[in-house]
Amino acid sequence: MNNFSYERLHSNLQYLKLNTVEELLDNCLELAARDNMTTMEVLDYLFEQEKKHREAVAIERRMKSAVFPVKKTLEEFDFEFQSSVNKKVIEDLATLRFVHNAENVVLLGPPGVGKSHIAIALGIEAAKTGISVYFANAGNLIERLKSASKEGVLEKKLRDFTKYSLLIIDEIGYLPFDEEGAHCLFQLISRRHERRSTIFTSNKSYGEWGEIFKDHVIAAAVLDRILHHCTTINIKGESYRLKERKRQGIATLISYN
Ligand SMILES: Nc1ncnc2c1ncn2[C@@H]1O[C@H](COP(=O)(O)OP(=O)(O)OP(=O)(O)O)[C@@H](O)[C@H]1O
Ligand SMILES: [Mg+2]
Repeated sequence: MNNFSYERLHSNLQYLKLNTVEELLDNCLELAARDNMTTMEVLDYLFEQEKKHREAVAIERRMKSAVFPVKKTLEEFDFEFQSSVNKKVIEDLATLRFVHNAENVVLLGPPGVGKSHIAIALGIEAAKTGISVYFANAGNLIERLKSASKEGVLEKKLRDFTKYSLLIIDEIGYLPFDEEGAHCLFQLISRRHERRSTIFTSNKSYGEWGEIFKDHVIAAAVLDRILHHCTTINIKGESYRLKERKRQGIATLISYN
């Protein structure tokens, strides 16, 4: 290869934004000459690396834009400790069929039992496979919808939140919504219904949602939409945080002896 075509190759790779191919090219050509690699093998290797790098960048970008508060995975989840969680059901959800079918998931249970953990872990699985995900705390989401309404841009905000294939609305029920907040959330849920998938977590049973919304009619309409196509996971049992505190307590005792 003369200098002219070598430079043109590099400049074309830059122009085509095949940055990984360009970066690996020289090294790869040297190895190819040394190890008698075929042209096919060289091309296959270079394009495979380009694809892998692009996939990794895209996952990174989706993970960032999902704004998960912490990273949690299903591998880290101790199903033996939380025996009320059926591992098979969670593994089925991890196939993400529910996202493709625009179905919902609701995780109910007392504090510390792993609701947010499972919601985030499913969100991460989704982000890894190319699904757009957004994590929002319910109270915060409602405040954002209310301020958009005040500024006359609620429609745009609702559209923004509807574009995510998977939306996680965490902690429904810790703070009650006022009337306007309940209406804003109802609109968002209505828009996403049968079009997009949403995961909800709540410390309140469905029967108590009327209190959160302070309006039983709105609560019933919201639940009707959510439950239309939905998997509910009722988690019972002890808080994992408490378990960890107990273990630390025991550890402290041991270190004092
Ligand atoms: N079964 C489990 N295996 C491993 N870690 C767990 C399990 N359950 C909970 N945890 C961990 O315990 C902590 C509390 O769990 P998580 O935040 O999911 O609780 P939660 O049900 O959302 O509670 P809250 O209602 O207070 O928000 C997290 O650090 C989580 O990773
Ligand atoms: Mg939580």
